[in-house]
Amino acid sequence: MGWLCSHPLSPVSCLILVWVTVVGSMRVLHEPTCFSDYISVSTCEWQLDGPLNCSAELHLSSWLEVPVNRTCIPENSAGATCVCTMPMDDLVKADTYQLVLWAGRQRVWHGLFKPSDHVKPRAPENLTVHTSDHDTKLLTWSNPYPPGSTLYKELTYLVNISNENDPAEFIIYNVTYMEPILRLAASTLKSGVSYKVRVRAWTESYNGTWSDWSPSAQWHNCEYGGLEQLESPHPAFTLWPETPPGSSYPGVRLTACN
Ligand SMILES: *[C@@H]1O[C@H](CO)[C@@H](O)[C@H](O)[C@H]1NC(C)=O
Ligand SMILES: *[C@@H]1O[C@H](CO)[C@@H](O)[C@H](O)[C@H]1NC(C)=O
Ligand SMILES: *[C@@H]1O[C@H](CO)[C@@H](O)[C@H](O)[C@H]1NC(C)=O
Ligand SMILES: *[C@@H]1O[C@H](CO)[C@@H](O)[C@H](O)[C@H]1NC(C)=O
Ligand SMILES: *[C@@H]1O[C@H](CO)[C@@H](O)[C@H](O)[C@H]1NC(C)=O
Ligand SMILES: *[C@@H]1O[C@H](CO)[C@@H](O)[C@H](O)[C@H]1NC(C)=O
Repeated sequence: MGWLCSHPLSPVSCLILVWVTVVGSMRVLHEPTCFSDYISVSTCEWQLDGPLNCSAELHLSSWLEVPVNRTCIPENSAGATCVCTMPMDDLVKADTYQLVLWAGRQRVWHGLFKPSDHVKPRAPENLTVHTSDHDTKLLTWSNPYPPGSTLYKELTYLVNISNENDPAEFIIYNVTYMEPILRLAASTLKSGVSYKVRVRAWTESYNGTWSDWSPSAQWHNCEYGGLEQLESPHPAFTLWPETPPGSSYPGVRLTACN
């Protein structure tokens, strides 16, 4: 996505080209797509049509203007996909990298990558559900970027609160202010229902995509008597009268919901 094609293909011919390259007996089905977290790493991945040892068969070289080689050895990821993680420092908005994918000595792909046009932020961390009083819940999480870094003040968030027993039932909140906090009236949610919350980040000033979701936090919503937090991966207790079949918190101590 968002790839510019190298000479002599125009971007348009690139879009309509079904990109298939033979690597030995294996075919690389789609050209690599790359994203940058705009602080320390860029990640490229591409799909193959069958199993292949990515590290043994392929490597990706990258350089900026001066052809000084940096080589990334890809790893296999879920399905027939290769992933290359490239450390990047001193990011400059105008920088455009040249990338070449090699199968041994055979050059199978050449493309350009401008990190500032393909930003996928780091996922927010430490999502926690606090009960501030009987009627209000406070969701907090941490900005995944250190103060002073380029994206620290650039993130906006999307909070997804879903019914654990019916994932089709969910509420979305846009958090467009800087503080990683969301105040929630308990009355906006159903009593006696278990909820799961996740948050992801996006940056409007750079052309990019949503981050991955943060790890989720869960709680059982009680209209009265306070809301007890269940935070994965260390759930302390739940308020179920009994563990429902297929409960996602095995071995958890149970207390009653008021
Ligand atoms: C912005 O991102 C979208 C989706 O990732 C991509 O299609 C588009 O080409 C990008 N624009 C630029 C200027 O890179
Ligand atoms: C893939 O190749 C690398 C390097 O040759 C080797 O170390 C690794 O064990 C291989 N992995 C598998 C799953 O065969
Ligand atoms: C990168 O290194 C390889 C092997 O050392 C070499 O064949 C290739 O020409 C180099 N590419 C560039 C752009 O310097
Ligand atoms: C998340 O919490 C852990 C443990 O409390 C802490 O070490 C880490 O720095 C926090 N992460 C962020 C981004 O604040
Ligand atoms: C919110 O989360 C639910 C449950 O995981 C999911 O089904 C739904 O697609 C999500 N909605 C959005 C907009 O992310
Ligand atoms: C959140 O913001 C996006 C654009 O910034 C908008 O498209 C979407 O409708 C908003 N969603 C809610 C629930 O406000």
